[in-house]
Amino acid sequence: MKQNYSSIVILTGAGISAESGLSTFRSENGLWNHHRVEDVATIEAFQRNPEYVHEFYNELKPELLKAKPNPAHLAITKLQNEYPACVSIITQNVDTLHEKAKSHNIYHIHGQINQAVCLNCGQILETWGDVSTETVCPHCAVAGMMKPNIVFFGENLLFMDKVEKLLSTCDLFLSVGTSGVVFPAAAFVQTAKLYGAETFEFNLEKTSNNFYFDHHIFGKAGETLPKFVDDLLATKSGQL
Ligand code: APR
Repeated sequence: MKQNYSSIVILTGAGISAESGLSTFRSENGLWNHHRVEDVATIEAFQRNPEYVHEFYNELKPELLKAKPNPAHLAITKLQNEYPACVSIITQNVDTLHEKAKSHNIYHIHGQINQAVCLNCGQILETWGDVSTETVCPHCAVAGMMKPNIVFFGENLLFMDKVEKLLSTCDLFLSVGTSGVVFPAAAFVQTAKLYGAETFEFNLEKTSNNFYFDHHIFGKAGETLPKFVDDLLATKSGQL
């Protein structure tokens, strides 16, 4: 850990929301153990059976709406508010726990559960309510063209221009709670490292991406990240 950093990028995955009670995707009880990706998370699935795909995301909404941020989310907000650097969050998560923790500079590269996009006019509908094949777009008034604003496998990620800029200019890259198996997000650490960033992985265990990380901090993010942020703040103020 250096004395000071000027640009910090934090990539988060489902693991940062685990201590808020939300399922991850690939653990024993993960979301992909109860539903096939091919049925709910591909554009082909949506074209084949849009009602079923809408229903899957509608059913996730109440739990995500109720979920509260945990100490890991709050530690990032503390870092943003107290550390004199630009701190950006690139999240793979479609929950809004970073927003609920009052963080800012948040980029949902896989979309958001409380949004739908109109395939006719491209406008975003923000809603925690159910969306279906009957939903009328409030912007263009066309019915039946709404899609969950979730990036399906095979679709382009969101905010990639911004992400490229952040990765190529950051000097500290933290990966928190992601298995590092879904690309291109899994390659972000390589880009950051290529441009000279110091890289840390926060996870319960080593991931398949561990080769690219300078440091591994094992444990629950709700415990390890607050300590890391306090150490960073203490180092900055010369107390460590
Ligand atoms: N603290 C830290 N890490 C944790 C915790 C915790 N409390 N609980 C779980 N983890 C770790 C797991 O060890 C695992 O490596 O979080 C990771 C979660 O991995 P996945 O379930 O694969 O979730 P994620 O990496 O976010 O998936 C990436 O895949 O299906 C797509 O779009 C979906 O955004 C998702 C993407």
